[in-house]
Order: sequence, then C-alpha cells, then structure tokens
Amino acid sequence: MNANTTLRLPKIIGHRAAGAYAPENTVAALKTANNLKAKWIEFDVMLTQDHIPIVFHDDTLARTTNGTGLVAHTQYQDLCSLDAGSWFSPKFVDEKIPTLVDYLRLASDYHLGINLEIKPSLGKEIETAEKVVERLHQHWPMQDGSLLISSFSIPALQRVRELDKRVPLGLLLEKLDAVDWQTITHQLSCYSLNIHHTLLTTEIIKAIKCKVDYLLAFTVNDKDRAFTLFEMGVDSIFSDHPDLLLHCPMHAPYH
Ligand code: G3P
Ligand code: MG
Repeated sequence: MNANTTLRLPKIIGHRAAGAYAPENTVAALKTANNLKAKWIEFDVMLTQDHIPIVFHDDTLARTTNGTGLVAHTQYQDLCSLDAGSWFSPKFVDEKIPTLVDYLRLASDYHLGINLEIKPSLGKEIETAEKVVERLHQHWPMQDGSLLISSFSIPALQRVRELDKRVPLGLLLEKLDAVDWQTITHQLSCYSLNIHHTLLTTEIIKAIKCKVDYLLAFTVNDKDRAFTLFEMGVDSIFSDHPDLLLHCPMHAPYH
C-alpha cells in the first residue's frame, strides 16, 4: 500500500515541535521537545523570497515575529534579524527563524524523527517541494524510518514523489470532501492520512484504514481526547504538548 513500510511512528508527535511550551517552529521548541522526551516532532517549511527553506507556519510574519509582510516577499537576510520569540514570552527574545537545515542538524543530533510539513506559499508548491527534497537528501538519512513528509498541497506531494520514489508521504486533510483522498493516497503511495481530529468518527476511521496504513490526527491537546482517538483506531496524534501522555502508565512510545 505504501512506498516504505519501515517507518516507526510514535503515538505522539510534537506539533510545531512543542508549540505549547516554546515559540512554535523555533530552535527553542525543538530543544524543549527533546527535553520532554519526544520521539518525533512536526514542523512547517516554506521558502523565503530568495528560495531558502525555513521553518515557519504562517504566510505572513506578523503573528510570530516582530516583522511584517509576506515571507515569500522577504529575503532570508532580512528574516535573520527578526525576533521570533517575544510574541510567545519575553524570555524567548533571542529566538530566530530557523532554516530547514538548522532543524535537520539539530533533530539529527537529538535522534528525533521528523514529520516535515511542506507549507508552500501560493504558487511555490513545486519549488518548495524541490528545495525540501534537495536539503533532505543532503542532510537526512532517508532510509532509516525517521522521516514522514506531509502537505495539504497535492502538487507539492506529487513533486516529492517524482523526486523520491520511496520517501514516506502523508496527505493532510482539513475537510474530508476537500479532495479525492482515496485516489490521491493510492496514486502517491501515501503512508498516512493526517486529518483534523474533529472530523473523525468510527465509520470514517474504518474507511480510511482500508486505504492507508496509518491515520494521524491533529491537533490534540487533551489527554482524554487522545485516548478516545486511540481507542477509535487513530494511530498517532499531533500535540502542542509532546509530553501529553508521558506519565500515562498504558502509554507505549511506539506502536
Ligand atoms: O501536520 C499537522 C498540522 O500541523 C497541520 O496543520 O496548520 O498546524 O500546520 P497546521
Ligand atoms: Mg503543521
């Protein structure tokens, strides 16, 4: 069903690394996730105007930095000086926007698995996918089961699949009827469907698990909800609290 069956996903993946505890998608968030004993983290990647892949969620700078304007219209050099931490707490005043390579190096040092979400600016889907694959091939062990690439953008996922026949892919969905997910996951040999947790019912979960190996749900910050989802058949959840299940006796870190 999928292109690579060696992937070992944990039950919980740190969303935007550890978005509840540190400014999302920063080095501080990655370090926090590691300190909280996360096995895997999720983060978002887009391109600067001069085509540098950075770890960042929004199209615009205003919410999570002291800058303004579109990321896609800003040179990397101009992003480097921005404060990407104070919006969260003054103690993170020194946080900068990391490059994808910064994140890959650090995640590798900590032996973290990664779910790299390609979050392209409009019109940059193909180019973002190409830069991501290029950087991964240079800086990440592609075949050791520690990588899942996901996106809401089908063109981005298609381009990744053209460039790498084996890398595990996950299709992201915010609405079930947004796309023909059955056909797309089949055509792209997707490993997982990553879906908003409020859309899930037992029937829908059953239908999804007939088509893909793994079902991941975002974003779940409530422990009881997490266990309900696992009982319903969800394999892994994304949480801003990578330690959400840390002290639960029945929690095994991997499937
Ligand atoms: O990959 C799961 C989740 O991160 C998708 O939504 O907007 O938080 O990137 P978003
Ligand atoms: Mg994301």
